Amino acid sequence: MFSRFQFGLMAGVLALSLGAGVALAAMSADDAIKARKACMKDGHGGVLKVAIPIMKGEKPFDGAALKAAFDAEDAACKDWSMWWGADTQKGDKEQTHALPAIWTDAKGFEAAGTAWYNADQNLRKAADLASFKAAFPAVGDGCKGCHEKFRAPLQ
Ligand code: HEC
Repeated sequence: MFSRFQFGLMAGVLALSLGAGVALAAMSADDAIKARKACMKDGHGGVLKVAIPIMKGEKPFDGAALKAAFDAEDAACKDWSMWWGADTQKGDKEQTHALPAIWTDAKGFEAAGTAWYNADQNLRKAADLASFKAAFPAVGDGCKGCHEKFRAPLQ
């Protein structure tokens, strides 16, 4: 249950993001869609490119290569909160696979994001192959958990 304090906090956050929405209204739906796709493809995809060969045993555990991929992911995804305005459900020229559930179930979308984020933070702590292998599946589940509910299948 939410306490009154938490409701106050949420109202504050809403007011803040509305303010930011006005200040950042220059970002078009197409730009937001492009940016979130780049976060997914280059940011998340970049991590998988390094992680999967390690998981398969094709490459040795490489903390430096992983850190570089995580840093690139952070850079590609840092403006996440700006990309999901109601006006981004459809692009002008840009195609989107975002499902309406993102906006009808905003709390569920946020929860899916948080589940992935926590798994990802845990993976980043892995300092050797054994802990990496133990932590990785939860990250994959995090991607999948969100895509199943909030993303249309990619062609
Ligand atoms: C909180 C929800 C969420 C999480 C977590 C998430 N995604 Fe996504 N992903 C989406 C949505 C929504 C789209 C569709 C974006 C669009 O087309 O506008 C998407 C699209 C993609 C795409 C297609 C991009 C394109 O060019 O069209 C890839 C690839 C992808 N995600 C990979 C991942 C990977 C890998 C992870 C985990 C490491 C991940 N995503 C985590 C919601 C999520």
